[in-house]
Amino acid sequence: MASSDQQGSSGGAPKPVPGSYGLPVIGAVRDRLDFYYFQGQDKYFESRVERYGSTVVRINVPPGPFMAKDPRVVAVLDAKSFPVLFDMDKVEKKNLFTGTYMPSTSLTGGYRVCSYLDPSEPTHAKVKQVLFNLLLSRKDEVIPTFHSNFSSLLATVESELARAGKAEFNKLNDVTSFDFIGEAYFGVRPSSTDLGSGGPTKAAKWLIWLHPLVTLGLPKILEEPLLHTFHLPPFLVKGDYKALYRYYSAAGKQALDMAEGLGLSREEACHNLLFATTFNSYGGLKVFFPGLVANVAGAGEKIHERLAAEIRGAVAEAGGKVTLAAVEKMELTKSVVWESLRLDPPVEFQYGHAKKDLEIESHDGVFQVRKGEMLFGYQPCATKDARVFGATAGQFVPDRFVGDEGSKLLQYVYWSNGRETESPSVGNKQCPGKNLVVLVGRLLVVELFLRYDTFTATVDTELLGTSVFFTGVTKATSGPGA
Ligand code: HEM
Repeated sequence: MASSDQQGSSGGAPKPVPGSYGLPVIGAVRDRLDFYYFQGQDKYFESRVERYGSTVVRINVPPGPFMAKDPRVVAVLDAKSFPVLFDMDKVEKKNLFTGTYMPSTSLTGGYRVCSYLDPSEPTHAKVKQVLFNLLLSRKDEVIPTFHSNFSSLLATVESELARAGKAEFNKLNDVTSFDFIGEAYFGVRPSSTDLGSGGPTKAAKWLIWLHPLVTLGLPKILEEPLLHTFHLPPFLVKGDYKALYRYYSAAGKQALDMAEGLGLSREEACHNLLFATTFNSYGGLKVFFPGLVANVAGAGEKIHERLAAEIRGAVAEAGGKVTLAAVEKMELTKSVVWESLRLDPPVEFQYGHAKKDLEIESHDGVFQVRKGEMLFGYQPCATKDARVFGATAGQFVPDRFVGDEGSKLLQYVYWSNGRETESPSVGNKQCPGKNLVVLVGRLLVVELFLRYDTFTATVDTELLGTSVFFTGVTKATSGPGA
């Protein structure tokens, strides 16, 4: 399929962006109900693209009244228009990590942490550098730490399967990912400290306070006023946050020393470590891994066979060890991970304020946007754009990114808030965990197929995305895992 984002462009004179915000307050509340309950988020966006015949369109986004002052955005909903959000000359990314509203800074120790900072603010570069340095300093710990944590998760899956005939991946993943990240970044498993086994629950509660734009499955009459209309009072999670903070300030000592050397106060650095580790990293893996396991399970036995052969071959060549060089050779495995991130981007919404009057180009035309307007991207629309990914855009195609032709499509993979072919830096807002995320995704697939020839799972949707239950595993009959 054609992979050029020039395809389909009509060029021509700039047009005003079509769409409608409806009546003040009433329009936004109606749209919020459509988004959460009557249409669901995919339909919400798709139906408006259809109604106005344009993938650049004016719409309201949740939460709207009374949490957000202004729900009106210009949505960019195709692969061609979306990357305007990555262009730091065109958009400002101050205080809009969670969208049209900003949670109270009392949830983050009184600081505006990195995710809320625009690269033009000097603290952004300092914090992002701290994170780059931290990840670099711990790079040799990732593979062994991943193996020890996730092989034990799979051992638990097996005992649950023997006991109950099914094993819930999400719950095990929450506990394991939380410990894995702490151990990989700081060398200290959170569960072995005073935090005990309560870390993931405390973290999950705090995540909801920061980002309540979910549905918990409660009746609308409760959920609307409780979650989507007013900010949740920060004092209710103060104790949880303090407990998390104590862990980071003790376990993160070396990283905090390094941050002080880069000109940050210990306290500001620690609130940032907490956020980057708990919200960005843990929150990310909490959504990404279940999606990945679901997609791999659904790909079926034939693909499992090919993955097992590729993974076991590369590991055998490396003397029976999972090394970075061995993982780099696993082309299908890497493609599977990218395809999952493309099909189910764990962070679906991105925002940016137009820094100046702009012209935004979609496949079908050029649109005028005024300085100060809020631009918004719903990533699943952009990364499932049929004009780039063809008739299979909405399907999981395991080897989509394999080979020279396949790798040309990587520029349209946007999960990290940048193209997959570009790199995060202190001057942009691309995710500093980009390489780590693609690595740990591959490590999860490696762990699965060193251990199993194939496996089955049932998949459902839940609060933050996909919920997965293992229903059967077939132990490896060859290779290092057999
Ligand atoms: C930013 C996704 C893991 C740290 C972002 C953004 C996205 C993203 C979409 C941009 C948000 C925006 O400004 O609109 C993800 C996903 C992850 C993940 C899906 C896992 C599956 C991580 C990890 C780290 C991390 C492991 C650890 C360092 C950050 C930070 C930012 C960020 C600090 C703000 C960057 C900046 O201000 O320049 N991430 N991320 N993330 N991510 Fe990640």
